Parts: sequence; C-alpha cells; structure tokens
Amino acid sequence: MALLIKENFHSVSHTIRSLLSKNNAIILSCIGTGVGFGLLRWYFSGAKCRCKRQLTGKTVIVTGSNRGIGRETARDFAKRGARVILAVRDITKGERAAEDIRQSTGNNNVIVRIVDLSSLESVRKFCRLILEKEERLDILVNNAGVRFCPHWTSQEGYELHFAVNHLGHFLLTNLLVNLMKKSAPSRIICVTCMAYEEGSINFDDLNSQRSYDPWTAYTQSKLANILFSQELSNRLAGSGVTVNSVHPGIVQSELGRYTGDNKPALWRRLLIKIVGFIIMKTPQQGAQTSIYCAVSDQLENVSGKYFSDCCIRDTSSVAKDKVTATQLWDVSCKRVNLHLPPT
Ligand SMILES: NC(=O)c1ccc[n+]([C@@H]2O[C@H](COP(=O)([O-])OP(=O)(O)OC[C@H]3O[C@@H](n4cnc5c(N)ncnc54)[C@H](OP(=O)(O)O)[C@@H]3O)[C@@H](O)[C@H]2O)c1
Ligand SMILES: *[C@@H]1O[C@H](CO)[C@@H](O)[C@H](O)[C@H]1NC(C)=O
Repeated sequence: MALLIKENFHSVSHTIRSLLSKNNAIILSCIGTGVGFGLLRWYFSGAKCRCKRQLTGKTVIVTGSNRGIGRETARDFAKRGARVILAVRDITKGERAAEDIRQSTGNNNVIVRIVDLSSLESVRKFCRLILEKEERLDILVNNAGVRFCPHWTSQEGYELHFAVNHLGHFLLTNLLVNLMKKSAPSRIICVTCMAYEEGSINFDDLNSQRSYDPWTAYTQSKLANILFSQELSNRLAGSGVTVNSVHPGIVQSELGRYTGDNKPALWRRLLIKIVGFIIMKTPQQGAQTSIYCAVSDQLENVSGKYFSDCCIRDTSSVAKDKVTATQLWDVSCKRVNLHLPPT
C-alpha cells in the first residue's frame, strides 16, 4: 500500500516537474489565462431562469424578436411549446429568425407578424390582425428598442426613442389588453434598462426639439417604460393580468450600432471588444430575466415590480413618482389618440 502511494507520488511529482519545463510554461500560462477568462465570463453571466414550466396551448408575442435578447426570449418560449408570434418590422429578417427558432426547437408554431413601432398606424394594423386571428394572448414581451440613434423622428413626428421604446408599446399593449384579460392569468413584461435612473420625463420638450442628446432621450424612454409598467399594473389590479419590468443586464447586441460615427482608435476598439466579451452577457443570458418573469410559478400574483438577474430590485425615486406616471399616461393617450373607458 505504502509503496503504491509512494510510486504514485513519484509519478505525479515527475509529471508536474516536466510540465513546468520551459515549453510547457507557455502552454500552462495559456491554460491559466483561459480558465481565468472563463471564470470571469461565468461571473458576469448573471442568473438563469430555472423554471421548467411548459407553455403548451399558450400564445406569446415578443416585439423586436428577429435578433438579440428578443430572439432568445422567443426561442425559449418555443422550446416550452408555446405558439410564438414574432412581432418584427422586417419580413425577411423575421422569417429568417422564425426558421432558425423552428429548426432549433422543433416547434413549428412560430409565426411572423409585421409591426413597425415607429408608426402608430402600423401598430394599429398589427393589433387588428392579432385580435382577428388569435383566440388568446398569454404573454406579451415589450422588448424592441432603439438606443442612441441620431435625432430621428417617427412617422407621426415624435422623437424616435420616445416613439419606439415607449409610445408604440404603450398603444400596442393597450390595444391587446382586453384579449389578455380574457386569457387571464396572463403576463406583460416590459424590457427597460437600469439607466432609467438617470432619466427624467421632460414634459415641456418630450420630442427633444429644443436640444437633443441621445443619452437623455434613451434614458427618458426607459424611465417611461418602467413608469408605464407600474401604472398599467395598478390599472389592471384584480384582472389576472400582471405587469413587470426588467433590466436584462449589459448584453452583446447591435443596439449600439448608431454610435459608430466617430470611431475610436483601433487599439481602443479592440480593448472595448475584449472587455465587452468578458463582462457582457450573451443575448441568451440577457433573456433570462424576461423569461423568468413570463414563466415563473412564484410570480403568479406579482405585479408592478422591477427585476434584474431574476430578482425583484428596489427602484430609485424617479420610478416611484406616481404623479409623473399618471401624467405620462395621460400625455401618451393623447399622443397615440387612444380613448380608454374611465377606470
Ligand atoms: N443590450 C443591452 O445591453 C441592453 C441593456 C439594457 C436594456 N436593453 C433593452 O433590451 C431590449 C432589446 O435589446 P437588444 O440588446 O436585444 O437590442 P437589438 O439587438 O438592437 O434588438 C432590438 C430589436 O428591436 C427592433 N426594433 C428596433 N426598432 C424597431 C421598430 N421601429 N419597430 C419594430 N422593431 C424595432 C429591432 O429590429 P431590427 O432588426 O429591424 O432593427 C430588433 O429586433 C431593448 O429594449 C433595450 O433597450 C438592452
Ligand atoms: C395567487 O393567488 C391565488 C388567489 O388568491 C392563490 O390561490 C395562489 O396560491 C397564489 N399563488 C402564489 C404563488 O402565491
């Protein structure tokens, strides 16, 4: 026995010694770096939705689901057996994503419906078709978004962040909410961003006509998402429809594609790429909190909350301002020409 241990010890120490020889030092440090990278990547990958719930017989809509976080959210719902409606603005990109999702999940009940959230007319047309064709709607994920685009305006002349991220989804959700009530219990998820904390709703200049700054416009629209989600949650209390908002994390995506105007130097871009690769979530990881809010059994009666990494988080004071939330609701109704029955 002792001999066996001794012999093994000998061979192990021999292996270590030969591994530490010059050539292998290089290999070893490579492996070390790899493991280090891996551990860091793992550390920043965020929480995973562990709920196994199936969605057979349920219908779900995800806006902006031809790529990024939206596509991975839709893919997960397809895996769970739902009828998945990809709400996208481009038919070719939409069909490509639908085919990809069908292939990877084996669920053929994945369809594309066209909606351009920067056109209220397009939103109304989309909703008319949904109400005409669908018998139920169990989950709606308001995920589409633009970030840091130039000072562009929507079809109706509204600043694009505010139009796409907020107004389009505001109208879309309100037009579909009766169908969701009929399908209750049902859930609405609004994808916002932690940066809402920096935002404020500038009622005097909602369209940024006096001055335009992409960061200000983006954070205003993301604050609008969270205020809308809470206000809607209050209005839907007792209806069996819950509304929650989500910060997906910092996720690799094409959201930043408008920032390419003044490109930094090559070494800086490379550094950003490497650091980004380490600390940013993949779209699949970024989708986890949206998925969690949509399927978790524990959240059956949870509404009006804000989540990140599959946990309820406290919101900063800007998001708790009920006066602003109601004012935003009223202004939004006017902007999208929506006449709701008095509550
Ligand atoms: N990535 C992040 O780090 C991060 C962080 C916090 C919050 N978020 C939020 O997460 C959500 C998804 O972002 P992502 O990272 O997945 O971005 P993404 O890859 O840029 O995807 C955005 C999606 O929105 C769609 N979209 C844009 N404008 C539209 C319009 N007018 N009508 C219909 N669809 C439109 C895009 O469609 P096209 O392909 O046709 O352009 C695309 O499918 C956004 O709400 C974003 O604010 C992201
Ligand atoms: C949600 O509320 C219903 C009705 O009050 C109750 O039966 C159910 O157990 C609740 N679910 C959870 C997860 O708390």
